[in-house]
Amino acid sequence: MNLASPRQLAPSILAADFSCLGNQVSEAEKAGATRIHIDVMDGHFVPNISMGEPIIRATSKITQLPLEVHLMITNPDFFMEEFAQAGASSFIVHYEGNNNLHRTVQKAKQIGKKIGVAINPATPACVLEEILPELDLVLVMTVNPGFGSQHFLQLTLKKIGLIEKMIALNNPECELEVDGGIDASTISLAEKAGATVFVAGTSIFKSPLGIAAAMKQLSSSQNF
Ligand code: DX5
Ligand code: ZN
Repeated sequence: MNLASPRQLAPSILAADFSCLGNQVSEAEKAGATRIHIDVMDGHFVPNISMGEPIIRATSKITQLPLEVHLMITNPDFFMEEFAQAGASSFIVHYEGNNNLHRTVQKAKQIGKKIGVAINPATPACVLEEILPELDLVLVMTVNPGFGSQHFLQLTLKKIGLIEKMIALNNPECELEVDGGIDASTISLAEKAGATVFVAGTSIFKSPLGIAAAMKQLSSSQNF
């Protein structure tokens, strides 16, 4: 845990107003976002359908920020090249349901993209042990994937701490990101546990404060 580093915010456009997506992403960029998080869902891996190639392509025209594409889909290998051509900078794939995770990780690297692995709330940290040295990022899901606006699951905090230690020992350059239910009260809990990158959808794009003020609050809030 490094409390001296600024919090890296990754706004998730799942919660954005798609009738003015360009403005919303630009506002988040001006307010200090370090990447844009794009949630791709297929209705099989998770019980929801969200967005795909056209939104990745459109978002890449709006912003200079890296586009982090979170693949909540059954066959991530089938889509990585298409999404890379559309402007994806990095991919996050799930441990769950992937019989050949190492192959998926290698595929992302072969096409020159950064790669992260996500684990769901009920999945233990130990499944990352062998693959961790290969990764640019670990994503701890702090809700069950599939929907925005869910409550942060505190049971994930211990696991975040365990993974922080695994990263320090085995791959210190690897980022530790959290996704789901991150708001002004939960962000400091996740940070104290060891996370350094914070995906936030609802608390940014649906905040009554507006995008810039919501991001400012997320950047500085403490929960003692
Ligand atoms: C959930 C997605 C998240 C989602 C987070 O399956 O992976 O990225 O957008 O949304 P909030 O911040 O509303 O919990
Ligand atoms: Zn996500």
